Amino acid sequence: MCGIVGYLGDNKASDIILSGLEKLEYRGYDSCGICLYNQSDQSFVTYKDKGRVEHLVHDFDYDINNHLAIGHTRWATHGKPNQTNSHPHFSLSKRFSIVHNGVIENYKELVSKFIPNTIFISETDTEVIANLIELFTETLSVDEAIRKTLSLIEGSYALLIIDTLSPNIIYAAKNKSPLLIGIRKEGITLASDLMALIGHADTYYPIEDKTFTKVEKIGNKYISEMFDIIGKPVQFVPLEMNMVLEEIGKGGYSHYMLKEICEQPSVIRKIMSKYLIEDQFTISPKITQMISAAKRIYIIAAGTSMHAGFVGKYYFENIANIPTEVFIASEFAYNMPLLVDNPLFIFISQSGETADLRTCLVNVKQLNYPTLTITNVATSTLAREADQFIEIYAGPEIAVASTKAYVGQVAILSILAYVVSSKKSFDLKLELSKVAIAMEAIIDKREYIHRLVQEKITKKSCFYIGRGLDYYTCLEAALKLKEISYIQTEGFAAGELKHGTIALIEDGIPVVAIISQKIINKNTRSNIREVLSRGANVLVISLNNVSDVTDEIVLVDVHEILSPLLTVIPTQLIAFYSALDLNKDIDKPRNLAKSVTVE
Ligand code: AGP
Ligand code: GLU
Repeated sequence: MCGIVGYLGDNKASDIILSGLEKLEYRGYDSCGICLYNQSDQSFVTYKDKGRVEHLVHDFDYDINNHLAIGHTRWATHGKPNQTNSHPHFSLSKRFSIVHNGVIENYKELVSKFIPNTIFISETDTEVIANLIELFTETLSVDEAIRKTLSLIEGSYALLIIDTLSPNIIYAAKNKSPLLIGIRKEGITLASDLMALIGHADTYYPIEDKTFTKVEKIGNKYISEMFDIIGKPVQFVPLEMNMVLEEIGKGGYSHYMLKEICEQPSVIRKIMSKYLIEDQFTISPKITQMISAAKRIYIIAAGTSMHAGFVGKYYFENIANIPTEVFIASEFAYNMPLLVDNPLFIFISQSGETADLRTCLVNVKQLNYPTLTITNVATSTLAREADQFIEIYAGPEIAVASTKAYVGQVAILSILAYVVSSKKSFDLKLELSKVAIAMEAIIDKREYIHRLVQEKITKKSCFYIGRGLDYYTCLEAALKLKEISYIQTEGFAAGELKHGTIALIEDGIPVVAIISQKIINKNTRSNIREVLSRGANVLVISLNNVSDVTDEIVLVDVHEILSPLLTVIPTQLIAFYSALDLNKDIDKPRNLAKSVTVE
């Protein structure tokens, strides 16, 4: 989790760090801090506190001549979010200053083995790193001391380190957590996400796991060199920076989430344009061969991406005839099922950085099975490390609650299943075009959904019910509502309610029912009557051809199999407006972070 930024160059470092942290704040936002070198009086200045980057930007003095700095926006794993636990952290003598993204799993063992008498200022696992480096510099050079420390720490980390005795160098290292280096003639920027490099780098490269990078000013030049753990140089090929600033703005919307909801029709069109060649959906032959050769597909994902995975299972089984199972990544990682011969593992991840998935990918690769990642971030770890990857092209998703990446994932899954199917019973291109138009129709009616929310959704709790594909949408709808409004919400298979959960239905409880498939229409309507009889306040979302005159939200008909792309839109709007009316921080809900890089 968390965002880190570092800079060494001709420009004002604090400007680059602060604007970078603002862009990365969606990755973690309980506290933040910066350490910079004041060139005029040759001292180091540190500001850090609980709270948002806005506080760091506005409430401290940056009228300082500074060209080297490191900054951090935190998602606490060890110790409360408070000023003391905020990064940067220091070694005991204050020689080394450090920012860290991740978790050091063996920090307690390292303390008792190497520094049992050190008095720690914070409760974090991070502080041990700074103190180990300091300890080892008693006998080793700084480079060696850092490398020795890296050889001892276990877990996930992206680290930026400053040695206050050498204010022209930033040291960087990573394992599992992402860290990129952006290069430009007038300076080098380091960041945990490409977004913070926009405008400051012409090329960039991702730092490799368990390597050590030194960014240094030599003469008038800024140099970065990567070494392995024994100090041997590691070669890298810089990549072109191709992300532009406009892609990460709010574009006139009040919230990123609303902007991203409204962008969904164009996401569908963009995906079509990327994967249609001469009017035929086309994906790399390597990927089609991989899928066609699979006896069974194992989809591994977390949260919203896992819900897309459920829809993907339906597509692979119903369109391509390939048995498919979906696993929660954090469960699969340590409880692998009995696998069939010739499996294919598909990892679905918006960010491409989710640690739970990465653990599974490493395990599966050790068994030599084929792997494919579906991700929105082509430069991400999961994209780089799987045998193949396929890009979602949803554009940067900033709101913590995933919306456009979800529909992008579902659309890609439909394309993959369609491309490998031997008998094409419908025209996917035509049907996806209809989905984009139908999405626009409901987005245009969003104020009506806002009014429905005010009428139906209470603060107490909420249920989403549906069957078949609608059940998967219910799971996603419930996650969306609870994560941003904090209303306790469950997504339920409509037929399962009567086996226990119906006990929770009482006067006024909101129940949102989704109906998009003919085969389940009658049964879901029976379940609606059951909850109505027990006092529920029901809201029905249906497709036109299965609708009833009393249904509150009737959507334009699309091909049944693609209905999850459409039925999810009103549920995203229900979540958005519920959170808005409750005055919640929609884009940055409490306790969450966009990219979950710890297990
Ligand atoms: C989505 O709204 C959530 N914030 C979360 O469940 C997310 O989908 C999950 O953490 C997986 O992330 P990924 O797609 O980046 O792997
Ligand atoms: N483990 C560190 C802490 O709790 C870093 C957390 C982060 O990645 O933000 O401070």
